[in-house]
Amino acid sequence: MSRIDNALNIEDLRKIARKKLPTPLFSYIDGGSDDEVNVRGNTHAFDQAKLIPEYLIDVANIDISTKVLGRDISMPLILSPTGMTRLFHHDGETAVSKAAAEAGTYYSLSTVGATTIEDVAAACSGPKCFQIYVMKDRGLTREFIQRCKDAKFDALTLTVDIPVASNRERELRYGFTMPPKLNLAGMAGFAARPGWVYRSLTHPQPKLANVAHKIPAGSSQSTSLMEYIANQFDPSVTWDDLAWMISEWGGPFAIKGILSPADARKAVDTGVSAIMVSNHGGRQLDGALSAFEALGPIVDEVGGECEIICDGGIRRGTHVLKALARGATACSMGRPYLYGLAAGGQAGVTKALELLRAEITRDMGLLGCRNISEISGKHIT
Ligand code: LAC
Repeated sequence: MSRIDNALNIEDLRKIARKKLPTPLFSYIDGGSDDEVNVRGNTHAFDQAKLIPEYLIDVANIDISTKVLGRDISMPLILSPTGMTRLFHHDGETAVSKAAAEAGTYYSLSTVGATTIEDVAAACSGPKCFQIYVMKDRGLTREFIQRCKDAKFDALTLTVDIPVASNRERELRYGFTMPPKLNLAGMAGFAARPGWVYRSLTHPQPKLANVAHKIPAGSSQSTSLMEYIANQFDPSVTWDDLAWMISEWGGPFAIKGILSPADARKAVDTGVSAIMVSNHGGRQLDGALSAFEALGPIVDEVGGECEIICDGGIRRGTHVLKALARGATACSMGRPYLYGLAAGGQAGVTKALELLRAEITRDMGLLGCRNISEISGKHIT
């Protein structure tokens, strides 16, 4: 029985991932900006709200399916975009997207993913979304949109909470760069993981597959992802750019990184299909609202006018139900599936998804809800 088979929850997968990954790579997944207040706070925020169950309801048959960004999905939980996934397992985004498809939910490919739009489309038979970072080379944005149309992606997401690079001290301390640069602290971390080093040496080096043809990532020297973002991401993006992208794409379009009701209103007025309430997993402005804290006021402002996805800190089925009770359409997550990927490749991602599916189903029974539409504000303090 493999170690992932024994995992009872996401934290168990995180522990396996920590043992398998070199410290610099685990730190990239696990860490955040400044004092990592939001990394911890995103999950702790759920503890502040309490669920209010109702009983003597026939919960013999529970349906947790729903619909997001134009596609029917098997549970109210989708996969958030994450960078450079092949660093954590050589099968990277291919494995993750296949597991998402098997689980019947949305996969999101990041602009800074290590697999091309076309290769994900070939691997993933399920709903898929491409997450756009606007580069200074604006031609890339137009290219991304056309390539996603050609590859029959279902939705686009514009991430807006990286106007500038953040301060990620674990990445600096351990030298997380592309390609990995071995500073002394980082070198010790790699040396302690011979299995990862062997697999890394026997598989193609990961690269930023969708932008490398235009913007070589550290081709001449290693560059930290934050340096890369500082140098290549366009900080001048505005709502007019979003309006152009929505018009150019012509399909379901989400905006990720919204924490203010005023921005939520602007997003709906600009024509988004969905708002991903998010503080980027605590990896950008540390000390900002957690996603769950920001959710209520955003639902009050735009609830019913667009889909609202709560992104950040999800580790339990009860977290998903609290977000739904607060008015979210669904939730999204990044770290849980990355822990699974690092722990066991595609099987590890499947394990993470199935652990959370089981928790959502069980918790809905305990809450007294037979389907997603029955979850409402009466179920939460
Ligand atoms: C990060 C960006 C790449 O959080 O999404 O690392």
